[in-house]
Amino acid sequence: MDENERAILQTWQINAEAWTHALQQEKIASRKLVTNQAIVEAVLSYHPEHALDLGCGEGWLARRLSERGVAVTGIDAIPDLIEKARGLGGGTFEVCSYQTLAGGQWQAGRRFDAVICNFSLLGHDSVEGLIRSVPKLLTAQGRIFVQTLHPFTACGDLPYVEGWRAGSWKGFGPEFLQPAPWYFRTLAAWVKLFSESGLHLAACLEPLHPQTQRPASIIFVCQTQYHGQHLEHSRL
Ligand SMILES: C[S@@+](CC[C@H](N)C(=O)[O-])C[C@H]1O[C@@H](n2cnc3c(N)ncnc32)[C@H](O)[C@@H]1O
Repeated sequence: MDENERAILQTWQINAEAWTHALQQEKIASRKLVTNQAIVEAVLSYHPEHALDLGCGEGWLARRLSERGVAVTGIDAIPDLIEKARGLGGGTFEVCSYQTLAGGQWQAGRRFDAVICNFSLLGHDSVEGLIRSVPKLLTAQGRIFVQTLHPFTACGDLPYVEGWRAGSWKGFGPEFLQPAPWYFRTLAAWVKLFSESGLHLAACLEPLHPQTQRPASIIFVCQTQYHGQHLEHSRL
């Protein structure tokens, strides 16, 4: 495994406790104000019965969706986060890395009508392998929902070019340690990744932060190629 990918897993292991605490105390303003509701509404607008939450963390999204009748399976590489998720309930949670899933060693043959990645696509090879595996995890009418930092805001003052960026826990508090690098993708790079993985971009949402009126995130909604390839603005 590449050094950056290893650093990503290490940072989540180290910060599992701090992360769980931050979410339970609703310390991340953009999540509380905008992005949590945005992903929940986007997923529920398609009325899924079975959802797979990739990189589920401590499982808040599974809990929110299960309250609305969705059966959720969550996977994450970090055993401490999965243990928290199991304790809090709302789904079935398993320790599994994207690398393991992409290697075909997880739940072969199971399919979901929603696959969700909520701020959980951080690396390069791990993410490419994972996204390439998604068509095999989706039902014929299923969709993948990827919420991530909006490339225009996440780019900051650096050139708008994909590549590894230094990580930072700025704004998260002193209890967060050892930030890991993350892989910045432009809008075009995300679309290329989906298309080269056999996925068709069906809709794209840009939830606005109510105070700044800037996009707090971007949500890509994709389905496997050749199923009604039109933009779905009207549904959302
Ligand atoms: C920013 S957190 C988001 C957690 C959750 N989706 C949420 O919305 O709160 C990123 C998550 O991705 C997981 N993750 C990152 N790389 C991973 C990998 N290679 N395999 C499995 N999980 C990974 C981390 O363990 C962490 O829980």
